[in-house]
Amino acid sequence: TQKIIIDTDPGQDDAVAILLALASPELEVLGITAVAGNVPLELTARNARIVCELAGRTDIPVYAGCDRPIARTLVTAEHVHGKTGLDGPPLADPQMPLQPEHGVTFLIETLRAEDPGTVTLCPLGPLTNIATAFRQAPDIVDRVQRIVLMGGAYFQVGNITPAAEFNIYVDPEAAKEVFAAGVPLTVLPLDVTHKALTTAPRVQAFRDLGTRVGEMVSAWTDFFERFDKEKYGSAGAPLHDPCVIAWLLRPDLFTGREVNVEIEVDSPLTRGMTVADWWRVTDRAPNALFIGDLDADGFFGLLTERLARL
Ligand code: BDR
Ligand code: CA
Repeated sequence: TQKIIIDTDPGQDDAVAILLALASPELEVLGITAVAGNVPLELTARNARIVCELAGRTDIPVYAGCDRPIARTLVTAEHVHGKTGLDGPPLADPQMPLQPEHGVTFLIETLRAEDPGTVTLCPLGPLTNIATAFRQAPDIVDRVQRIVLMGGAYFQVGNITPAAEFNIYVDPEAAKEVFAAGVPLTVLPLDVTHKALTTAPRVQAFRDLGTRVGEMVSAWTDFFERFDKEKYGSAGAPLHDPCVIAWLLRPDLFTGREVNVEIEVDSPLTRGMTVADWWRVTDRAPNALFIGDLDADGFFGLLTERLARL
């Protein structure tokens, strides 16, 4: 099995990503670290536990990490995810406890305790926790097997500004450090996640599972969809974050290129832009596998089959 740590700001699409990971026997989720992003930290730490409980996995340790970006004021996305971050069906507060340790401490201690090169990090939100852990403990950087993250955009450009995708925009300094760290990196940008659209038949397939998980996932995607339908006139909501977990499970469903990706931190106009050298017009060394396409039907088939197990 592949050991992973999920670093997340749930978020309906984060929630579905967590469910997909917990439903997949190929993956061992060592822990979940919450970060401020879609909504403030207190809510993302709450929502991560709600999702573990929904999956019947109260054994997964959930930690609260950083409550704000390294050098910026927190920008949130209630306009997409609602006030709680998991708006849709009403949800009771979780019963399972939050771990007392800081999420960054958990990242550092886990990477030191596990054999080098055996733990993959799966960031689904701003990269604050990961960059802070690398700053505090540079010795762990080489111990990370791979980082597989949702963030950035190239042909699809931005969703929070014309130039930037939300996760990278919120903490561009953190993103810059993570992209420059030298860790093998897989990037799932908007270019690919906007192909993972929750069309009506796909949402119906979740509902047809006839389980509480199926009902919740369909209700969440219905909520989340309003925004993208109204805003972009798209056929459904992009299931951004589950693409990260799906790539780990079925990389054959995706195609991409090894390219150089630099993060803009200086310009107010293009803050958080992921400048991907897709056409290799510079001699800057590739630092990421930048995913450009996916087999959407294969992706939804995998997701539905896995959710059925919960
Ligand atoms: C990303 O931003 C968040 O709103 C989603 O959860 C996803 O991680 C998409 O830009
Ligand atoms: Ca997210």
